Amino acid sequence: MEKVKTGIPGLDEMLGGGLIKNRPYLICGGPGTGKTILAIQFLMQGLKENEGCLFIALEEPSKQLIENMSEFGWDIRGIDIVDTAQEIAEGKWFIKPSDFESHPEFTLLSLIDIINKKLDTRDLKRIVIDSLTSIMSLYENDVEMRRGILSLMNFLSTTGCTTIITDEIGTQSRKDVLMEEFLASGVIRIHTMEKKGEMMNGISILKMRGSDFDRHIRPMKITDRGIVVFPEDTLFE
Ligand SMILES: Nc1ncnc2c1ncn2[C@@H]1O[C@H](COP(=O)(O)OP(=O)(O)OP(=O)(O)O)[C@@H](O)[C@H]1O
Ligand SMILES: [Mg+2]
Repeated sequence: MEKVKTGIPGLDEMLGGGLIKNRPYLICGGPGTGKTILAIQFLMQGLKENEGCLFIALEEPSKQLIENMSEFGWDIRGIDIVDTAQEIAEGKWFIKPSDFESHPEFTLLSLIDIINKKLDTRDLKRIVIDSLTSIMSLYENDVEMRRGILSLMNFLSTTGCTTIITDEIGTQSRKDVLMEEFLASGVIRIHTMEKKGEMMNGISILKMRGSDFDRHIRPMKITDRGIVVFPEDTLFE
């Protein structure tokens, strides 16, 4: 099966070359663990390979995202960003693609519709949805939510794009598997742990359908050039 490089040094080694093409993957982690940086780094690799890249910004405004990523020396203007905004007066949330007239209210269906329109106009190869948590907040009950997430994953599998979806998980590292983790083709988790009084990040692959992978938690650092994973090292001695 053809693999797609994530562009994160060390992570591609853990994955045995990269992610299997055209499938949706989850990146799970606590707040501030580097999920958005990792996802953008995956799209930067796409730009390097002249691939069309789409970023759905449900989490932070694109202006802020562009500023944050410039800290790593990344010019992300080549990435097509779909913004969202909350209209406080109306109490509603809208999707705002820069190049379309219409700004539909944010629902799973309108999101899928926008992605389809983007696919019609551009040869996209990589998509990021930041984050699944925002989509999950559209649902009031778990059955509907599960159905929604499953249809999103199924839709993404048909786009011809490799997709990363970020997912916020609680601050305490949860040992149990989350519902959405069953539905994705693969799951990568970012961990936070204390070592000799210092907070460290680790990264592990929880699941990767169709491929063997490194089953250890490996140290991960956010550097001034982005995320680096140390595939030979261990967080535990
Ligand atoms: N230049 C940098 N060097 C080192 N660390 C940085 C740098 N810039 C940001 N960081 C770290 O990256 C983290 C934020 O990364 P990111 O926004 O990707 O996290 P996230 O998991 O998406 O967070 P959230 O759950 O809030 O969306 C911050 O905690 C910050 O410490
Ligand atoms: Mg984020």
